[in-house]
Amino acid sequence: MRFSLKGAAFLAAVVLGAGAAQAQDKSLAQQIFEAMAQDPGAKPGYRVAHAKGIVCEGTFVPSASAATLSRAAHFRAGSVPVTVRFSDGSADPFVPDNSHNAGPRGMAVRFTLPGGGLTDIEGQAHNGFAVGTGEEFLALVKAAAATDPSRPHPWPIETFLGAHPRALKFVQGTAVIPASFGTAAYFSNNAFVFVNKDGVKQAGRYQFLPVAARRDLSDDEAKAMSPNFLSQELRTRLANGPVGFRLVVQLANAGDPTNDASLVWPDDRRTIEMGTISVTSVVADSDTAQKALVFFPTALTDGIELSDDPLPALRTSAYALSFARRQQQ
Ligand code: HEM
Repeated sequence: MRFSLKGAAFLAAVVLGAGAAQAQDKSLAQQIFEAMAQDPGAKPGYRVAHAKGIVCEGTFVPSASAATLSRAAHFRAGSVPVTVRFSDGSADPFVPDNSHNAGPRGMAVRFTLPGGGLTDIEGQAHNGFAVGTGEEFLALVKAAAATDPSRPHPWPIETFLGAHPRALKFVQGTAVIPASFGTAAYFSNNAFVFVNKDGVKQAGRYQFLPVAARRDLSDDEAKAMSPNFLSQELRTRLANGPVGFRLVVQLANAGDPTNDASLVWPDDRRTIEMGTISVTSVVADSDTAQKALVFFPTALTDGIELSDDPLPALRTSAYALSFARRQQQ
């Protein structure tokens, strides 16, 4: 596998970079991580979020238009290898895939760059995140932790969601159960800045759009599924050929907020086709691979930069803590 020492050096470089960029977030990231680790579903040796997943391999081929947006090496030409992890968003590594509490589904992609180096993109199967700041995210996690269904209403989580309509929409939207990891669309929600060879900068958000038709299950269909149907279905689907996703960037118009991942930009915004991800197989030992693997929203490369969105640096710090926790257990 390609996750060993090289991965550790990469982790150190990305975390140190994020820490230097936003050192003031360290204690907030720690508080968030500790609150997430309190989730009753969280288990030793697993991620504190998106704990159940499956690791795959494949390739990315850039489209002709990709280089007009970004000079990043994987957007220039040719084909690069990718590692892809699909996941249920729950903290519980044994959550049934057909539970309404298993979401949001995740798709994390690591590109091996020509000439060396790595860069990551993570997507979530909901357009628009729950909140826009780390402070709000901490309040959300704490409200969920403080909710005891045996207590009278309103529960802390009900109070939080009542005051945060976009978080309520996120919770409702991510309760949907996809027919397949290969029929869901995934969104970075966080905004990044793309730089082309002429130095032109444009802000945008990533989308992984399935080549297959998007399909979610009805409640009756979901009930008939087995607890691990998403990984089983993916293996069956892959046996019939690659599972494809279009990588698309939605560009911000002047004035569109880039610092709040919960504010969705209108659908009429210009999009650029960046290329196609073809997932070809599940890795030989997915459980060992996923423990050793960690994706970072700040693992960027020349041609892709952070925007004023506060979440990526904060997330990288929290992901590193989650990674360290599962190595110790
Ligand atoms: C304040 C905001 C957020 C916090 C604190 C947070 C926290 C976390 C943590 C601690 C993990 C476990 C990481 C690991 O152990 O490897 C995780 C995983 C993940 N998060 Fe977030 N998250 C946030 C927002 C988001 C957003 C906006 C997205 C949108 C794409 C996202 C997508 C994912 C995905 C796809 C994974 C699984 C990665 C994998 O497969 O290894 N998260 N998150």
